[in-house]
Amino acid sequence: MKNGQIWKDIDGNDIQAHGGCIIEHEGVFYWYGEHKGQDNCPGTRRVDVIGVSCYSSSDLVNWKYEGLALSADPSDENSMLHPSKVLERPKVVYNEKTNRFVLWFHSDSANYLYAGVGVAVSETPTGPFKLLHTMQPNVQDSRDMTIFVDTDKTAYLIHSSNWNKTLNIARLTEDYTNVDGLYVSVLIDQEREAPAVCYRDGMYYMVTSGCTGWNYNSALFARSPQLLGKWKLIDNPCEGPGYRDTYQGQSTYIFTVNDKDYIMFDHWKPQDLKSSGYSILPITYDDQSNMTITWNDEWKGI
Ligand code: GAL
Repeated sequence: MKNGQIWKDIDGNDIQAHGGCIIEHEGVFYWYGEHKGQDNCPGTRRVDVIGVSCYSSSDLVNWKYEGLALSADPSDENSMLHPSKVLERPKVVYNEKTNRFVLWFHSDSANYLYAGVGVAVSETPTGPFKLLHTMQPNVQDSRDMTIFVDTDKTAYLIHSSNWNKTLNIARLTEDYTNVDGLYVSVLIDQEREAPAVCYRDGMYYMVTSGCTGWNYNSALFARSPQLLGKWKLIDNPCEGPGYRDTYQGQSTYIFTVNDKDYIMFDHWKPQDLKSSGYSILPITYDDQSNMTITWNDEWKGI
């Protein structure tokens, strides 16, 4: 699979799973993302909401389309799942206590002024997920976001807030379906978005982009010894050709396989979002807690 390009599923169709995440459950990998498989609305940089797609794989290269895990609802204009809204950056986590899969996403109006999150649940990884609620977490505006599950299985919503100036880290309830009221603001006034978070050897890391919409910019990583502690922006983690522009990509998720961390990027095509590409790149760390992302032309899976 050529990094930076759109990838094909095992039926030869374009993989529609943008802004997504990969999780492993009972030996199977599931990739969830925004289905953007239709033309941009004329003259705009948006595609109407289709839903959250789900793909499965055993090797992270051969992906089988499992259908829409969460579908748009064209029948109800007031629903946050109506095609005229925005549904971005879906992230799925499995809750061991309830045996349910919980899907969080950036839920918004077409003009991005609602600035909230949506939460949906399912008993199976492929869905159908049922929407529980949409909200502004802790009464804070929320745009780009991710979900991170800590080593003690406590989960957190990490979201751009305060008009994208600041990131909030908000703890979730035990069933992962809501925020529990505790949150901290980090990287205050640093204007970062597209957070992707991981933990390695006593340190939490967060890769973010700057706020330039679909247009690429330089990634930066931040780190903190405590998740709710004092995060510091460090540097661009990327190396190799095109590192300065994040290889024309934007961070979306970090996952771990066989004790190695990998980052997923979206390579947006604002005028033709359905053709936006993907890359998956390895992350390495040195003993000074610096993070390096290395470009490879190809993603070969595991
Ligand atoms: C980006 C963001 C995407 C999408 C886009 C819309 O900054 O990361 O998820 O919201 O803006 O312009």
